[in-house]
Amino acid sequence: MTDIVVLGSTNMDLVTYVEKAPQRGETVTGREFRTIPGGKGANQAIAAARAGGDVSMIGAVGNDAFGTRLRSTLEHSGVDTDDLRTVEGPSGTAHIVVDDEGGNAIVVIPGANGTLDHLSPGDEGVIASADLLLLQLEIPLPAVVAGAQAARRHGVRTVLTPSPAQPLPDELLIAVDLLVPNEHEATTLTGRTDPREAAIGLLDLVPEVVVTLGAAGSLYVARGADPVTVPAPKVAPVDTTGAGDTFVGALAVARGEGRPMREALAWAAAAAALSVQREGASASMPYRPEIEARYAS
Ligand code: RIB
Ligand code: NA
Repeated sequence: MTDIVVLGSTNMDLVTYVEKAPQRGETVTGREFRTIPGGKGANQAIAAARAGGDVSMIGAVGNDAFGTRLRSTLEHSGVDTDDLRTVEGPSGTAHIVVDDEGGNAIVVIPGANGTLDHLSPGDEGVIASADLLLLQLEIPLPAVVAGAQAARRHGVRTVLTPSPAQPLPDELLIAVDLLVPNEHEATTLTGRTDPREAAIGLLDLVPEVVVTLGAAGSLYVARGADPVTVPAPKVAPVDTTGAGDTFVGALAVARGEGRPMREALAWAAAAAALSVQREGASASMPYRPEIEARYAS
């Protein structure tokens, strides 16, 4: 089993489903409101655990009802929460509007995630014991950098999802083994709009890059190898929230099991395709047998 540690965020997603998202100054009537556990860190942890990984989560929830539910949701998916802190104050929340095409707009309020600005004693040992460390950018950057550097010291491979998009210091990128931006994030990091050019530019700092292309699949580039494009299964999306996290969680498991990159990308795409056909982030993530069935079809 692949041993995976996630250092990252937990959010309660406050999701409104509406035909078309309102413009500024406009009021519209939506269809449904749901609270669904999310946050890029927790999403990746749940996706990896359901895909068959052995996963622990380093993070923080608030001492509110959302925090209790976020913790128990992780545990129900089999994620070890011994290193998930409960801190004074509110949990992270994400305010999400999902339209009838499955697209979304999100405002994140960090809450407890904002307290994670450094590693705590013990975190380095947890990271050192893993095969892979998964990072995103919904906790303060100093902790992300510290996590990546700790992993590097112990020969643990790191996967960074550079989301939400922001320019990043070289000291972080050089400590990353696999970077998984979407097209927008790849452009933010490099100033290049063509995903292939952006990905190749990133190879100066990171040995392997996967750009996720939504319905078009993913693009993989590595130093000294030809770029590879892997398509995604064609599906009608209901809610794409967390699809990228599902992809990364499944990809981490597949790579940890030694599957070749092309196969791992197709397996991850199968997982993501299943998740976009259901509402919510973590709530929509498939378990391993379902991924295997979709991959085989
Ligand atoms: O990547 C999807 C996640 O981003 C959502 O679950 C939401 O919490 C936001 O942080
Ligand atoms: Na979904």
